[in-house]
Amino acid sequence: MQGKFITIEGCEGVGKSTQLALLKEYFENNGIDAIFTREPGGTDVAEKIRSIILDANNKALTPVTELLLYAAARRQHTEEKIIKALSEGKVVVCDRYADSTVAYQGYARNLDKQLIGELNRIAMADVNIDLTLFLDLPPELGFARKGGADKNDRLENEKLDFHKRVYEGYLAVAENNKDRVVRIDSSKDVDGVFAQIVDAMKKAGVV
Ligand SMILES: Nc1ncnc2c1ncn2[C@@H]1O[C@H](COP(=O)(O)OP(=O)(O)O)[C@@H](O)[C@H]1O
Ligand SMILES: [Mg+2]
Repeated sequence: MQGKFITIEGCEGVGKSTQLALLKEYFENNGIDAIFTREPGGTDVAEKIRSIILDANNKALTPVTELLLYAAARRQHTEEKIIKALSEGKVVVCDRYADSTVAYQGYARNLDKQLIGELNRIAMADVNIDLTLFLDLPPELGFARKGGADKNDRLENEKLDFHKRVYEGYLAVAENNKDRVVRIDSSKDVDGVFAQIVDAMKKAGVV
């Protein structure tokens, strides 16, 4: 009995949390046993690492330290929670996962992509992502939706150029992983986006 692992990715404010709420309802209505989790974080230890990563006061944090903290949080989350739930046959839905590191630390911070690949490999502890929903919307539009960046969030407060590189990173991830990444046109209204998500899950055989 092996469950399915779904990740949801995209820039700030593109509608990930909104769609996850709808997805939760959908799984409940259809009697599908699912857990919802997030990165960075997802377990007590990993949430502590999250607070270090995202704290806007941590101006001294260096890019490589940031990368290592994400990897540490991911390994803990994966071992402690994700693998366990999958082995119980559950659907696991994760708000951000390994592709975020490729987009943010790889493309936006311009760290070594090979190193990132290796750290993701270790952090993922041999887990397999069945489906990645990439909510495709440029960062300008995402920030407009959410009414600007959260001042307390170290990553959100990066300049628009940074977030544009994140977006380019996501486009490359989608291009390079066509077997598992589905691009969801997130310029549509909430229901229009959700319809694409249900369609993608059915096509991928995860529901
Ligand atoms: N399809 C949509 N069209 C217009 N506004 C949306 C849409 N989806 C979400 N929003 C709004 O955009 C803002 C950011 O959405 P949110 O789900 O928090 O994004 P994320 O979790 O990706 O940062 C919220 O105010 C939300 O109500
Ligand atoms: Mg969110």
